[in-house]
Amino acid sequence: MIAHRATTFTESVIREMTRIANDHDAINLAQGFPDFPMPAPMKDAAAAAIQGDINQYAITWGAPALRVAVAEKYRRWYGLEVDPDREVTVTCGATEAMAATFLALVDPGDEVVVLEPFYENYGPDAILAGAKPVFVPLEPPEWTLDPDRLRAAFGPRTRAIIVNTPHNPSGRVLSRDELSLIADLCIAHGVWAFTDEIYEHIRYAGAHHPLAAWPGMRERTVTISGLSKTFSCTGWRLGYAIAPAAAAGAIRKVHDFLTVGAPAPLQAAAAVGMAFGADYYNRLAADYRERRDLLASALTESGFAFTVPEGAYYVLADFSALGGDDDVTFAKWMTREVGVATVPGSSFYHDPALGRNLVRFAFCKRRATLEEAARRLATLAAKI
Ligand SMILES: Cc1ncc(COP(=O)(O)O)c(C=O)c1O
Repeated sequence: MIAHRATTFTESVIREMTRIANDHDAINLAQGFPDFPMPAPMKDAAAAAIQGDINQYAITWGAPALRVAVAEKYRRWYGLEVDPDREVTVTCGATEAMAATFLALVDPGDEVVVLEPFYENYGPDAILAGAKPVFVPLEPPEWTLDPDRLRAAFGPRTRAIIVNTPHNPSGRVLSRDELSLIADLCIAHGVWAFTDEIYEHIRYAGAHHPLAAWPGMRERTVTISGLSKTFSCTGWRLGYAIAPAAAAGAIRKVHDFLTVGAPAPLQAAAAVGMAFGADYYNRLAADYRERRDLLASALTESGFAFTVPEGAYYVLADFSALGGDDDVTFAKWMTREVGVATVPGSSFYHDPALGRNLVRFAFCKRRATLEEAARRLATLAAKI
């Protein structure tokens, strides 16, 4: 016997594609984890922390050094004053930060606005909190937000909107105008913004604008980010939520009973990474730009249609010109026959039909991995 709520969402398709990729020795451009090492000073700091006996529970809401490093980062990068003692909660990844935020701030029956396509966790997050997701499209091919459709999604039951920029899976970076409209609507309707800024440092143009920096938004925004993408350490499971003190208190309580806390020695090492200077971040973005350009030209040559991403490390590509199959059939066929694994586009939509011509490629991979993927993709047309 299993609980009804666990029957209302399915296992992550991304992990399933990873299994199929392993079975067929395919290059895994499905799951968004880097195949290159994380920064050595952080690995050294983690080893030193373990050897130095930082192996017991950290403070539930995060080791003080890491919370101070998070607050310092927001002051330095975004001019935001954050109180590390009352406003920062360190979590097991941005994933737990978002789930804990939902459970702490959203009641059953509330509506939560989700821009679609969306990172696949937000649907189950809403279900676990008993909330109703209300979807607003980011419209292809450029994944722009229609202001009227966004306005129409806000109503008396709206409790929150999820704002993920840079965006997975589309690679869109929301413009200042789009963010201003979101801020205006949140203020007018008394709605929370839960932001997912995990790709804040992986951008190819322009600046990152945290929504919490908008006038009137600091008190109604939970800013969520983490270390997985910025420091190429998705297995460390470290993230955080920054929220006004009362909301942070509720998030901390949920977090405490879900996980007690994030890994103590890794929190100690994370503070080292958070203090890296601008050079580190510039290099990160420049390296990703090279990877993006390599994959983009391979995809264009193989017949995919897409908008070049402005941020994050994914290309959401339309394969209609290559054949008529649905996305799941096409993605499985490509994994088996071409040796390149992707995620079927329907995983990012509430209605699978909306993603049936799309697959998502992740390019957080070494140059050699992407070059081999490009060689394999060049054989695709001949195999159809
Ligand atoms: C938009 C988005 N948010 C959150 C995550 C997961 O973050 P974490 O590893 O910190 O849980 C991902 C990972 O792919 C993501 O794409």
